[in-house]
Amino acid sequence: MKKIITPLFSVLIVGSAYAAPKDATFVKGKDLYDGAGSCIACHMADGKGQPGSVPPLAGSDWLDNPDRTIAIVLRGMAGPVKVNGDRYYSAMPPHLLFDDEKIADIVTYVNHAWGNKGAAVTASQVAKARKGLPQAVYTPESLLKSFPFDKKRGRKNGTFTPDFDDTLMVVTEPVVYRTFMPGASPAAFAVALPGNHYYCWDAGECRLRYAWTKGGFIRGNQVHWSSNGKPVAKFNGLPYYRARSSKLKPEDYDHLAETARQIPFYDTTETVDFPIKIDGVDASPKYKGYRLVQGYPEFIYKVGDYEIRELIRTSKNNLGITRKFFVSPKVPITFKLTPDGSASYSSSAGTISQDGTLKLTAEQAVEFDLTLTEKNPATPATTQTEGSKK
Ligand code: HEC
Repeated sequence: MKKIITPLFSVLIVGSAYAAPKDATFVKGKDLYDGAGSCIACHMADGKGQPGSVPPLAGSDWLDNPDRTIAIVLRGMAGPVKVNGDRYYSAMPPHLLFDDEKIADIVTYVNHAWGNKGAAVTASQVAKARKGLPQAVYTPESLLKSFPFDKKRGRKNGTFTPDFDDTLMVVTEPVVYRTFMPGASPAAFAVALPGNHYYCWDAGECRLRYAWTKGGFIRGNQVHWSSNGKPVAKFNGLPYYRARSSKLKPEDYDHLAETARQIPFYDTTETVDFPIKIDGVDASPKYKGYRLVQGYPEFIYKVGDYEIRELIRTSKNNLGITRKFFVSPKVPITFKLTPDGSASYSSSAGTISQDGTLKLTAEQAVEFDLTLTEKNPATPATTQTEGSKK
């Protein structure tokens, strides 16, 4: 029996498992992909990812096996990965909040959006994976062991051995990494600022967690796995500012930079001790996302009905960071910094008391700056002695 195939159809089948999804699935998948905090937050609406930190999904050479893609979504992936020839060294957290059908819709959407021609996937495929896959976050290497590339395509490698030290030595433009950071909830950002100041902003807790300058930015090629199976980036040097959280004990701060620590001292997204107090508002802050303002991330979150934005830049004298806040609608606030002797603080309005408290009127809180200046700045070409620390 002869099959009748239209020319267009035959073009589409050759060389790929292309099967057009039902329109409804595509639309559902797109909505889920575009949802707040979903894939779009990192891989972007156009599927192109973010240069240097998040690989693209549009035209990605990793999408040849939908079971592999399901595994990435369910378990996450961290480590050196090569996508379309470009190197990335970052981490993607698992997406466990979506049920089987939703993940199926998302992956089907990704496989067909932006000109991609991958296979449609079903909820039962996802259910099987959810039950059967090992419980740990994958590395690109471990993932390819379980789901190798199709040999016929002659594709050699989807990962690489970092043979370079990709610590950024001189930062001329802000660099934003979304990765697992020591001492922060799994929703952390690591940001490098021009002038070589670095900070960790925790979207799980909606606050700056710590800032440092000595020792360079996080080492992309030295991701460590903490004992609870969570990859964390490594950096050298102690923070000069650390936000207190009642989840952390004072002695924990001495270990913030130790990423190979056996006992995890912090792993929660619960928000306590939120540094900004608004009278009569008891709600926990809710992270709304970030946008880039001249390349600098501006973090947006809500406390009750109030929207707070925070944008961090290198301070004018280059010796610290300046955090610009916007609060709307107008309301008086109390801001609690956590002094520990490593930095000095100043603000564009009001006075910061000895214990780090800053009270601002509604008028002052609309827009204000807080500058944190390192007390013992690193002097180039001078050896730092341990004794100079305090
Ligand atoms: C928090 C940021 C983030 C979110 C959210 C995210 N990803 Fe990723 N994704 C990454 C990063 C970073 C990598 C590369 C990880 C590495 O370096 O090992 C990656 C890798 C991938 C890859 C393999 C490489 C490639 O580009 O093809 C796929 C497929 C993928 N993500 C799909 C998804 C899908 C589908 C979603 C939504 C369910 C999603 N991602 C959500 C950050 C994210």
